[in-house]
Amino acid sequence: MTDSVTTGWNVAQVGGLLLPAADVDTAVSAFLRTSPPTLRWDVDFSFDWTQADADRLTEGERSAVQFITIIEDHLPGYFALYEQNFPVDDSVDRATYIHNRELYHFTVRWAQEEDTHARALTRYQLAAGLAERDALWDSLAEEGRKQFVLPYDEAVQFFTYPLVQEKATQIYYQHLRQAVGDPLLKEILVRLSKDEARHFSFFADMVRLYLERYGDAVVDPIREVIAQFRMPLADTIRGYWRWALKIADTARYDHTEAYDHLVKVVNRAVDARSDKVDELISFVTACRQMQTNPF
Ligand SMILES: [Fe+2]
Ligand SMILES: [Fe+2]
Repeated sequence: MTDSVTTGWNVAQVGGLLLPAADVDTAVSAFLRTSPPTLRWDVDFSFDWTQADADRLTEGERSAVQFITIIEDHLPGYFALYEQNFPVDDSVDRATYIHNRELYHFTVRWAQEEDTHARALTRYQLAAGLAERDALWDSLAEEGRKQFVLPYDEAVQFFTYPLVQEKATQIYYQHLRQAVGDPLLKEILVRLSKDEARHFSFFADMVRLYLERYGDAVVDPIREVIAQFRMPLADTIRGYWRWALKIADTARYDHTEAYDHLVKVVNRAVDARSDKVDELISFVTACRQMQTNPF
């Protein structure tokens, strides 16, 4: 990471190695095949909103729903990162454009799905009587307007960070689903966690392809992501840590659970481990074991 966190938007192509466009296409096509039309879902038609009932939720469960709504609702900020770092215009050369254009097939679908998550949770809050519309919009705007920055220097880092974040979110939704008292909310969380699992698989594929093609050359940037890892909005939501600890009482939330999955990706990608890869795996494993804070 650089200090550019304080310097505003990064609007240039990110540095570092890029995969060949054909590799990106391989990962994107595999991702798109994981959601055949018959399995897709929709906010307006997939749930019986009349069943939403916040009276079935504990205070902690309500708080968790409010928390994850803010996180999901920040989608414009997450999506912008990919537009800014992988531009699809004449600011990049033709080969880079082709890479970015193939990646864009993923980012638009992913963004559409994440936006659906935000809308499902917002709709739930309104239907369940957890919030009034205008007050909810206003409170989401409070956090949503804040810039989301991942000031990485290397392209591979924009796939490593979400690999961990998507897996951590999937695991959290699975835990939360088991805890909550409203069956409709359980249904929503099942849909969300399945999508997060698919998103994880895409980013895992990308990181695997990077390691297979470039090996040791991408180990340091990957390591840097883990060394500095924070869940999204940890630095911007007011009272984040207090809130995070509170909702962890309702359902376990530990992003380091996702590190095991990164180690699996690395192991799968590398036939014979180099010293550098060995060191990365030891480092990630140590971060997993050392972590005592649930976030
Ligand atoms: Fe999501
Ligand atoms: Fe996701």
